[in-house]
Amino acid sequence: MNHEQDNKLPGELVIEGDWTTAFSYHAFDVELKSAKGIYLYDTDGREYIDASGGPAAISLGHGEERITEAISKQMSNFSYCHPIMANRPRADLCAAISEVAPGDLNASFLVSGGSEAVESAIKLTRQYHVVTGNAGKYKIISRYDSYHGMTLATQTLSGNPFLKGIMEPMLPAGSHIGQYSDYEKPASLSREAWGIRCAQELEKAIYFAGEDNVAAFIATPVGNGVEYAVIAPASYWKEIRRICDEYNVLLIADEVVTGFGRTGKWFGMELFGVQADMMTIAKGMSSCYIPLGAVTVSDRINEVFKGDITFIHGFTNGGHPLACAAGLATINIMKSDGLVENSDRSGKHLFSYTRELMLHPTVSDVRGSGLCMAIELAETQEPRSFFAPETNAEALFMSIALKNGVAFYSTLYGPKRSPLFSRGLSMLVAPALCITEAEVDEMMGRMLKTITQWEDIMGVG
Ligand SMILES: Cc1ncc(COP(=O)(O)O)c(C=O)c1O
Repeated sequence: MNHEQDNKLPGELVIEGDWTTAFSYHAFDVELKSAKGIYLYDTDGREYIDASGGPAAISLGHGEERITEAISKQMSNFSYCHPIMANRPRADLCAAISEVAPGDLNASFLVSGGSEAVESAIKLTRQYHVVTGNAGKYKIISRYDSYHGMTLATQTLSGNPFLKGIMEPMLPAGSHIGQYSDYEKPASLSREAWGIRCAQELEKAIYFAGEDNVAAFIATPVGNGVEYAVIAPASYWKEIRRICDEYNVLLIADEVVTGFGRTGKWFGMELFGVQADMMTIAKGMSSCYIPLGAVTVSDRINEVFKGDITFIHGFTNGGHPLACAAGLATINIMKSDGLVENSDRSGKHLFSYTRELMLHPTVSDVRGSGLCMAIELAETQEPRSFFAPETNAEALFMSIALKNGVAFYSTLYGPKRSPLFSRGLSMLVAPALCITEAEVDEMMGRMLKTITQWEDIMGVG
């Protein structure tokens, strides 16, 4: 599809017409008709490369028939399982997760998405400490500018005042430390030394919250917010692990984005050789063909919940047989098609564009691992600062990208960002893990063209 000859800018927000009964739904005026592989097709016949798989939701390509078959086969047996009966798809999926999960993360509690997974991890943490004789432990420490979901408890962990906003009085109390940041690293320190120093913020936070009160620390393996996709040195995670062990604080790795091959490893924590006590997973777990998530726990935690003690928690749709069929088929396809290896290979090719991207005056950083890349865009480089909210720079970028046939997910928080953050805006590149090197070239061609056109309009360069 040649978008050059088409003067229509497919980037207006839809706020009227057919869409007004879909409450608070503000999409761009591109209506999706079908999708195959890394491509999306709209109702006007335009083609777009799905550069971020929505919010890093897609691990397989679109239109994967092996998933359709697995779901319909399960549906022809039964679609829902009565809770008093053993659910074979659940057992098979949990066994498959245990096979690919790091270390002794061997038992999974299934839910329907990332927020439910994190919410479940919080409740599991609390019950674990109660039954092991540490009933005082209830506080969860997380990181500022992180994102762990949209339920009330997960918003507490998401250390972003804009997200908490009007919900503040209804949120449980939490405590936060900063993200690991290369940008803030003093020149005199090595990354390793700085990693240890950043991790030691956790020890201080435990001291101030009271060691007997702190139940867990939760963080994403790679950076979040303005530090999106920053890969901390292994020293950071090793020190976090040491501190958690010393104070009997459970380490929860939120692998909702990084799990299932996104960073070129099966799970993000494998980048650092550190195992968490629990990990939360969703998104790529079923490639979002059907909503699915889980909290996966180590043998030590699982042991406590064997016998008389059960986890007091559950959802009607947890372990839904159709979602389990999709999840199991996803893992099988990832193995048979070598998608984790391809994430590493195509990811290396993606990062070979770093130099070319950095030549652009608005590109202040390119970082990440595998097929998880953040391109930080800024108006000024030192200090890094994004365009003023009234310029609508982020929405404009996305709309130019759509015109060039590339669909991005972005924060859309651009206009609401605090001026305190003297930082650029992280654009996430996270295509399906089956992307070929030739498709990476096509995607990056459209992306580089988008950056050039956007810089022209913003008057930079
Ligand atoms: C790290 C992380 N945790 C949790 C969530 C919440 O997942 P969901 O939107 O499936 O509830 C997200 C969503 O983007 C996420 O990025």
